[in-house]
Amino acid sequence: MSRTVSEQKRTWTTGTAPGIFPLLGHAIAFYRRPLACLNSLPAHGDLVEIRLGPQRAWMVCHPELTHEVLMDPHTFDKGGPLYDRLGKLMGDGLVTCRQPTHRDKRRLLQPAFRPSHVGAYADLITEEAEAVCETWPAGRTVPVTEAMMGLTTRVISRVLLSDSLDDTTAAAVRDCLTDVVRGLFVRTVVPIDALFRLPTPANRRYRRALTRLHAIIDTVITERRRGADRDDVLGTLLAATRGDGGAPAITEQEVHDHLITLLLTGAETQALCLAAAFSLLARHPEAERRLHAELDSVLGEGRRPGPDDLPRLVHTRCVVSETLRHSSPGWLFTRVTTRETELAGCRLPAGAAVLYSPYLLHHDPVTFPEPERFDPDRWLPGLPTVEQRRAMMPFSAGGRKCLGDEFAMVEAVLALATIAGRRRLRHLPGYVERPPRPGITMGPRALVMACETRSSAAGAPRPSTSRTAGEHRVDNA
Ligand code: HEM
Repeated sequence: MSRTVSEQKRTWTTGTAPGIFPLLGHAIAFYRRPLACLNSLPAHGDLVEIRLGPQRAWMVCHPELTHEVLMDPHTFDKGGPLYDRLGKLMGDGLVTCRQPTHRDKRRLLQPAFRPSHVGAYADLITEEAEAVCETWPAGRTVPVTEAMMGLTTRVISRVLLSDSLDDTTAAAVRDCLTDVVRGLFVRTVVPIDALFRLPTPANRRYRRALTRLHAIIDTVITERRRGADRDDVLGTLLAATRGDGGAPAITEQEVHDHLITLLLTGAETQALCLAAAFSLLARHPEAERRLHAELDSVLGEGRRPGPDDLPRLVHTRCVVSETLRHSSPGWLFTRVTTRETELAGCRLPAGAAVLYSPYLLHHDPVTFPEPERFDPDRWLPGLPTVEQRRAMMPFSAGGRKCLGDEFAMVEAVLALATIAGRRRLRHLPGYVERPPRPGITMGPRALVMACETRSSAAGAPRPSTSRTAGEHRVDNA
């Protein structure tokens, strides 16, 4: 049943989701049909009470209410079922740390991911993307998600650790991350620890992957300490353990936590975004045609894109933005109230779990008409409305917004431009579009596609020298 609460500016509605099972609450529905379950919640209010196992939790279903939560991280701190689980993996790293220690950690890591700095990573991104194309001969079936995980793991590990990971170790990191991410989701929606202590194959696989990942990070740190200083994120972290730069020294454990955090966040979401983009493009020939036209016009005969091309890759950026709206890899996040508080007129006790979902906000038909339609043109300069910009939060908002948002956009645009400039990916005969099965992140986890060489790139027009890209002006891109 719903009740209406009048606020100074807005009237919020609150309610409870129906269908609570004893002990498991809504966990079964969330595990089996998470997106359908999410989409059903706004019908019950702007703030909807659900049960995750025996725990009460509140789902925020309106963009403005979501901003209210995200803009007050002292009251709505990191915590709740997701972060309780992630904390076991990432310790006290930037993603999981509580608000009182957040500012110093963010200050330490921010410089490497400042917008002014990310252009410096362009070469390594396109080099790795080109290497993927070389392993994709025309006429072959290619494991797209696996290749994107490989690509993004190598890119983020080069940003963090220069060349400290050899190919075999990078592949081991990629495989461990895949197993860990799979295991984390079920532990989030079914927060009953005893189940995960059972010696099942899945539980063993999860624990093995965790142990291996921690061991790899420890080895990398130990070897760097024995060798020369490097100008990368690990170099910054090790300098911080000596208290260089005047800030209080950080501990060895913090170095470890930061590295594992950045490896996981920097590889997984990014790989799913790229895989989802290829899948969506193959199902939307007109969007794909416009992307190819832009790439041929801006990059000509297969030239590698560089940072100077970014302002002209307007349609490419629109494809990435629309992928992030349509198939946002980060689809569900939790917070915990640090004190008794009021949200949407509802009294929440201290320790209450509050959830928000970019997927839910991005699929609201009032904000994004025909939300299931993949339409990159929604993001052409000047077209998104204020409401759409407010509701679009693939990287979250407020002080805990993604550290790597700008880096992620640059990596996705350059990798997509490099690969789509050289290869065309088609779904295999008999491919059926199925609702994505979310884990801790969401996206096509095992996408396999057919690879063709792009013939149009060879006969493409010469690179454009005008300030227009493809069919669009780009001055405010
Ligand atoms: C498409 C790619 C990405 C998406 C969709 C994404 C999404 C997000 C979201 C939604 C959050 C906020 C989580 C919350 O509110 O609880 C976040 C936080 C974070 N992301 Fe990303 N992310 C992406 C790529 C990256 C990359 C490449 C990095 C590596 C640098 C990164 C590092 C982080 C960190 C460290 C945080 C925590 C920030 C803080 O609390 O201060 N992310 N990300």
